[in-house]
Amino acid sequence: AAPIPLGLIESLRSARRICVFSGAGMSAESGVPTFRDALTGLWERFDAERLATPEAFHRDPSLVWGWYEWRRMKMRLAQPHAGHRALAGLERRAAQLTVITQNVDDLHERAGNTNVLHLHGSLEATRCVRCAAPFALPADIPQEPEGGRRIEPPRCASCGGRVRPGVVWFGESLPMPILQPAHDAAAACDVWITVGTSGLVYPAAELPLVAARAGATLVQINPLPTPLDAHYDHVLSGTAAQCLPELFAQERDRASLQ
Ligand code: APR
Repeated sequence: AAPIPLGLIESLRSARRICVFSGAGMSAESGVPTFRDALTGLWERFDAERLATPEAFHRDPSLVWGWYEWRRMKMRLAQPHAGHRALAGLERRAAQLTVITQNVDDLHERAGNTNVLHLHGSLEATRCVRCAAPFALPADIPQEPEGGRRIEPPRCASCGGRVRPGVVWFGESLPMPILQPAHDAAAACDVWITVGTSGLVYPAAELPLVAARAGATLVQINPLPTPLDAHYDHVLSGTAAQCLPELFAQERDRASLQ
């Protein structure tokens, strides 16, 4: 990856409040597929827009549940990478680090971050469609469905309603108890680091602009250009597992030099 600008190291070192905004690219090097890179294998000819909707679940609940079981299997087989661990180390060192993620996996938490806001919910937060009671998923890793994709969703223990994934689908609103603190963190941070998102899905994609308007230093980490790059002070073209350890190692070393 390209060398890290000294100005950025200085901004990081003097920052009191840091926000890291992650998308599917943050989990890619852990083996969890992104949305807009071609889906592989079983789900190759499906895309999120067609599966991650209330209509899709109403029309074919077993197909949608099968997709989420496959994603949960991928998540549970995945391990946090060096980029996740660098963020956990930063939380221990930094004055205040808020991780705001669009991802529904638990890799940030498994790496050790404790202040994580899930804008789009979590694969582990299943609930009843009818009475909203949380549904405890079995701890074992879901198996690939025999020869197909459809898995019948479980039924709610208390009311018999159908269980749905605890994620925010296209057309659904983001939970205010998460979006409000994310917005407040964006408006108050000194440095905002976006890593692994295409910046195409709103309102999440609006948050970096909130930070920019509040005067934060903006950093984009992505191997590819994105439509919002022009709003960033620093664009590091590299991957999460490459750039984050490098960024925070230099910030840590420089801090110790003072
Ligand atoms: N490191 C960093 N970035 C990466 C890596 C990597 N190893 N690999 C891919 N990327 C980048 C891609 O260049 C792309 O810009 O990650 C981004 C992934 O974009 P998407 O697949 O669109 O994922 P995301 O931006 O998180 O999607 C936003 O859309 O489908 C909905 O709700 C879903 O939260 C998701 C939202």
